[in-house]
Amino acid sequence: MAAATRKLPSLGTVFLTGATGFVGGAVLSRLLLEGAAERVFALVRARDAEHAERRGREVLFKLFGEDRDRLRSAAQRMRWVRGELGREGLGLEATDRDAILGSVDTVIHAAASTRFDLPEPEARAINFEGARRVLELARQIARGGRLRRLAHVSTAYVAGRRSGRIHEHELPGPEGPFSNTYEKTKAAAERLLRSHMGELPITVLRPSIIVGDSRTGRTYNFNVLYYPIKLLHRGLLLWCPGRRNTVLDIVPIDYVSEAICRLAADPEAAGGTFHLCAGDDAIPLRSFVDRIRDYYNEQRTQTGHDPLPRVAIIGRWRWRLILWRARRRLAGRAREQLEAFNLYLPYLLTEKIFDTTEARRRLGDALPYPPIASYLRKVAEYAVTREWGRRVSWDPSLVHSGLFRDEELGTIVEGAGDEGEQAAVERDA
Ligand SMILES: NC(=O)c1ccc[n+]([C@@H]2O[C@H](COP(=O)([O-])OP(=O)(O)OC[C@H]3O[C@@H](n4cnc5c(N)ncnc54)[C@H](OP(=O)(O)O)[C@@H]3O)[C@@H](O)[C@H]2O)c1
Repeated sequence: MAAATRKLPSLGTVFLTGATGFVGGAVLSRLLLEGAAERVFALVRARDAEHAERRGREVLFKLFGEDRDRLRSAAQRMRWVRGELGREGLGLEATDRDAILGSVDTVIHAAASTRFDLPEPEARAINFEGARRVLELARQIARGGRLRRLAHVSTAYVAGRRSGRIHEHELPGPEGPFSNTYEKTKAAAERLLRSHMGELPITVLRPSIIVGDSRTGRTYNFNVLYYPIKLLHRGLLLWCPGRRNTVLDIVPIDYVSEAICRLAADPEAAGGTFHLCAGDDAIPLRSFVDRIRDYYNEQRTQTGHDPLPRVAIIGRWRWRLILWRARRRLAGRAREQLEAFNLYLPYLLTEKIFDTTEARRRLGDALPYPPIASYLRKVAEYAVTREWGRRVSWDPSLVHSGLFRDEELGTIVEGAGDEGEQAAVERDA
């Protein structure tokens, strides 16, 4: 894709949540690298201001560490502010809050708990109450006459357990039904934001299952879809639950992050909800497992290994029986892994098509959608070369090399010491 060469529209000064995460990090990279933001205030969970700065430097290093000029330019336009979605006023210090109210034009809320198994009160405290607090901050910015947009990163799976074609304007009520507390609390946040769309310029962005970069396969996040891919690669995926019409809706991170920036800047997108999804290009489960398996088998042939077995797509009841038997036999880590796989099932068993009409219309030629077939192999290849996150995407030895120590960057080298390295490795694992 030529996306990286097209200039992004300006968002002014941005307040961003979730910058230490997968989506927020990719958005931050675009804001800083492609000139979309003059300055960025990024919310970061930290013990104290020093810890916040250190976590921030780790993020910048992870995003730009290989390029000294980019790292310097990015660091100069960043301010890391300590905060927490679960605390009133986002736990912001008064000086940070004043600086945000006095200069921020655009709010991008990409922080959330993406765990599917959190008890509802905990998931709600982060995903719903967090969104409410970000909304409150946006309202205060608007009172000062500055707010251009509040862009809220949601998920296409707020649709819950519905099947069929899901349109961008549709949103279920409190009873769903939902597959888990993640979907339920993200949908509650969307309902809250919708009720304020008449008063504030709010845009809701709904990605589906996000995978690595469409050009390189690069990712820091090896959750959800990478789990079955890993089992497949190891020859451990013999059965996969699914139905005749089951499709996987996956979308690459470069498309998602650029779409977030473009729609957040688009005046016509205020008051809109957009599916950042594959939509009609969603890939049938059968075809997905076959393509990944074919790719790994090509590699195995070259190295003289036996081909991987064909994966049988089985019905829900047969899967439950296999699960029941396995649960009786397995313990410890193996049992945990089985349960983790089971948590992702709602996303493997989906028979929904997310309608992308509005998103594609607004993004138009400025951001062409990259078809799944054009990048699936890169995703599978990158996961293997990075050992599903065990090898971090940047080389920690660089951090200790002294290469990036200079006056403008301050103590950036200290920021990625043992603790940071460990955190990055754990996050990627
Ligand atoms: N990844 C996907 O496939 C996908 C698909 C659809 C939608 N989404 C949406 O995209 C958004 C970002 O997801 P992601 O994949 O980037 O998740 P992620 O990698 O787990 O990152 C989550 C981010 O939220 C922050 N966060 C979590 N709890 C917080 C709290 N209590 N206070 C402040 N910050 C908090 C995390 O900070 P720490 O570093 O401190 O933990 C991190 O920066 C979410 O809204 C999610 O619903 C993601």
